[in-house]
Amino acid sequence: MADKIFEIQTVCCQELEKCDCLQALQDLRVRYLGKSGELTALLKSIKDLAQEERPAFGNKVNELRKLLETLFANKTTALKCSEMQRKLQQEKVDISLTTMQPRGALHPVTLVEKTICDLLIAMGFEVLSGPEVETDYYNFQALNIPADHPARDMQDTFYIAEGILLRTQTSCMQARHMEKKQPPIKMICPGKVYRSDSDASHSPVFHQIEGLVVDENITLCDLKGTLQYLASHLFGEDTQVRFRPSYFPFTEPSVEVDLTCSNCHGKGCSLCKGTGWIEVLGAGMVNPVVLENCGIDSTKYTGYAFGLGVERIAMIKYGIPDIRLFYENDVRFLKQFGK
Ligand code: PHE
Repeated sequence: MADKIFEIQTVCCQELEKCDCLQALQDLRVRYLGKSGELTALLKSIKDLAQEERPAFGNKVNELRKLLETLFANKTTALKCSEMQRKLQQEKVDISLTTMQPRGALHPVTLVEKTICDLLIAMGFEVLSGPEVETDYYNFQALNIPADHPARDMQDTFYIAEGILLRTQTSCMQARHMEKKQPPIKMICPGKVYRSDSDASHSPVFHQIEGLVVDENITLCDLKGTLQYLASHLFGEDTQVRFRPSYFPFTEPSVEVDLTCSNCHGKGCSLCKGTGWIEVLGAGMVNPVVLENCGIDSTKYTGYAFGLGVERIAMIKYGIPDIRLFYENDVRFLKQFGK
């Protein structure tokens, strides 16, 4: 019988050693210490022993039971511990990874648009936006460009339906706003415009900022002062502004505005083709015909308007040779700006 006790102890210890999960441990426990387990059976066999041998045998079996209880408890703790360790390893989250994400930056067109708008907001301009799908009336007729007017050829238009088009200029917002509001008016309108044109300096969609000021006694000097302020802040203190006579149906007189070349400061270089000047925008005094079209008394009020191309300003500012670079979304290009 003593052999039997020793055998159970040895085999149970071996099996405990091999046991590698809590479920298997539980099964093993039932097999040895359960109600119909090995130890109970051993205890029952006590009746086969002689009377005097029984107490010693009973003690030995109880000792074995105690020993096994302790071994099972220890094993349970060990298995729970390694299970927890395995879980921690599996569910590990490396929070340091997030710091490796590259940071985005504003697109150069957005950046320049925002800079210009902020400068004009500081001067008291309000910011408006209008529809990109526009009527022929606001894009052309209200701006003194009747059907068959040759000036329509200056802007190759995408037509959507009879009388409906993608706006070719933000100037339509001049008409929309003046129709609604009497002077004083001081507004800018940034937004996308569309023209059927595509090469290194033209894109079928690009961005303009329109400016409009209407009040009593507004003159060309006010226009020049505003543009001089913009130019100095965008390209540096010493930048000069020059007006050249031009033609737009909705301004009279009209001017083409040049700035001294920011690259050579007026000395002449390849960027300004040796002239020292770079053309940046169109502007002029609002044509009285346009004021009257929109219900504003042209004997009392005068105004100026300007329209600039955001990509063009960005190209000059950053020395970008091809407008198409703005729309290719090449990260190597984009990440050079907005730092
Ligand atoms: N709308 C003109 C263009 O797109 C620019 C402009 C705006 C000219 C306002 C004069 C006054 O070319």
